[in-house]
Amino acid sequence: MTGPIIDKDKCTLCRKCVDICPKEILSIKNNEIVIVHDDCILCSHCYCVCKFNAIQFNELKQPVFSFGHTAVIKDEIKPFDIISFIHSRRSVRRFKADPVNTEMLHDLIEAAVLAPSASNCQRWQFVVINGREKVLMLAEDIKNFFIKLNTIAGNPILRYLSVIFAGKKILQYYKNNYESVKLGLERAKEGKDLLFHGAPCVIIVHSDMEGSMPVEDGQYAAYNIALVAHSMGLGTCFIGYASATLNSAPSLKEKLHIPEHNRVHAVLALGYPQVEFVKNALRKDYDVKIV
Ligand SMILES: Cc1cc2nc3c(=O)[nH]c(=O)nc-3n(C[C@H](O)[C@H](O)[C@H](O)COP(=O)(O)O)c2cc1C
Ligand code: SF4
Ligand code: SF4
Repeated sequence: MTGPIIDKDKCTLCRKCVDICPKEILSIKNNEIVIVHDDCILCSHCYCVCKFNAIQFNELKQPVFSFGHTAVIKDEIKPFDIISFIHSRRSVRRFKADPVNTEMLHDLIEAAVLAPSASNCQRWQFVVINGREKVLMLAEDIKNFFIKLNTIAGNPILRYLSVIFAGKKILQYYKNNYESVKLGLERAKEGKDLLFHGAPCVIIVHSDMEGSMPVEDGQYAAYNIALVAHSMGLGTCFIGYASATLNSAPSLKEKLHIPEHNRVHAVLALGYPQVEFVKNALRKDYDVKIV
């Protein structure tokens, strides 16, 4: 059975774990904490409220960063600091060639898995492509995929024939992406890396589709990477074209050790920014109704 292991000698029966458990798994009976059913989602809330270190898990580990462990922050962070920090993250589309050290990469993945996930399923998996040459190899594979796709989409007969085999996706692609991809492929001939923007590193977040909200889970993990990278002086850019390609090309997934039935949720270009932003982002007006 998975779940918390209670050290009866340390437990003071303070009830904090009982009260916080979202699944009502813990109870006090005969002066000890008992587990009343086995639906534990391993969220570790009980562990996090126990002041007496009476709770452990065999299945869980403490995330370890290059600087050691994180601590609970109570009053030190001012709300506006966080907003300013989030606001100053930008998509970086010009990277220096400098490599990202493996300690930092490790920290980014540890930070990724701090994201929330539906029912705490944490099914995310990661591929880190570390090194400019390897990134360029992936860029080349993706470019070749789009050359083939544009050859089909750009030919009216092939385009309509492909509807029979692949549904209307190709028509949507022709309408929404064909021209910009065509332009991108032309510019790529000049040697520009329009896909990964010169990044020395790429992080792919993927998972199987077993959880109840796998896409959201993966994307929250990816956004953690983007924010934490920003805090380290690194830049990131979500590369939607790369995610879409990997999800349509099983042979590319195989090359990257991504199981065929897994879905890629995010592909992030990563590296040191070669651009300095002196102002924060502008945004469109939006609709909000507070009801
Ligand atoms: C799902 C998703 C896919 C994206 N795909 C790309 C991409 O393929 N290439 C790129 O240069 N930027 C991509 N971006 C970055 C957006 O263009 C960028 O977030 C947006 O313009 C706002 O700019 P900011 O991130 O600097 O605030 C993507 C962003 C998201 C959220
Ligand atoms: S929070 Fe810790 S000390 Fe309190 S009842 Fe639970 S296990 Fe015991
Ligand atoms: S890990 Fe979460 S679900 Fe499991 S017993 Fe603790 S609080 Fe409850």
